Amino acid sequence: MTTPSPLLDIHVRHKSFAGQEVLHDIRLQLHGGECVTLVGASGCGKSTLLRIASGLDRDYAGKVRLDGQPLSGPTRDIRFVFQEPRLFPWLTVAGNVGFDAGGVVDASRVAALLDEVGLPGLGGRLPKELSGGQAQRVAIARGLFVQPRVLLLDEPFSAVDAFTRLKLQELLLRVARAHRVAVLMVTHDIDEAVYLGDRVVVFEANPGRIFPPIAVPLAQPRDRDGAAVGEVIASVRHALEQAHAL
Ligand SMILES: Nc1ncnc2c1ncn2[C@@H]1O[C@H](COP(=O)(O)OP(=O)(O)O)[C@@H](O)[C@H]1O
Ligand SMILES: [Mg+2]
Repeated sequence: MTTPSPLLDIHVRHKSFAGQEVLHDIRLQLHGGECVTLVGASGCGKSTLLRIASGLDRDYAGKVRLDGQPLSGPTRDIRFVFQEPRLFPWLTVAGNVGFDAGGVVDASRVAALLDEVGLPGLGGRLPKELSGGQAQRVAIARGLFVQPRVLLLDEPFSAVDAFTRLKLQELLLRVARAHRVAVLMVTHDIDEAVYLGDRVVVFEANPGRIFPPIAVPLAQPRDRDGAAVGEVIASVRHALEQAHAL
């Protein structure tokens, strides 16, 4: 489902580190309610692009607009979920979920979110008492707590086992829909990119550039093993070969 004007409009003309260009002329738009996935070889600039999209990195030539307004720094409307959960070890699960809200945290809202991410009643635990998958569920709940409009995820399921990963994919689809949050997600898993994405963006490296997004014209829920998903996976793999990523 798309709207006429993009929710997030990313244009990076150049991004360099120490004189080395790592991103070149990237234009990417994210519409309300959409899930866009990014794939590409390691080091091609995916994380750098996500940091720029979040407002964390402003040292680049170009512009990011949220709802037409230039982004001037981090905002509650855009939240980031990293590969590792990055929970505060001294805070409880509930404390971590409500952390970004600051001040007084509505305990019933925290509890409802924990229910939603499949961790009912675990608000009193410390991060060290969680499995990797549970910790990432907390990170997702924390990302949603401030009711952002965009969730950026950087290889969020890379550190969990394959079975947990499938469950977290379903969780992400469910909460993104329920909270009407648009998703921009980096993954190195082609199947995951196609299963979750409405569009898949393939990166080319040195400097990082993107191919025109590959549409995934399939309604959710999708059949992971179906021929239609398989066809798109083949297109993405082909694009990655053209991008010399495989
Ligand atoms: N803070 C930094 N300082 C210098 N170089 C960096 C920094 N962050 C990333 N890079 C370099 O920029 C390129 C892109 O990195 P990154 O965005 O992390 O790639 P990806 O997420 O696709 O693996 C890499 O060559 C990396 O070494
Ligand atoms: Mg990265």
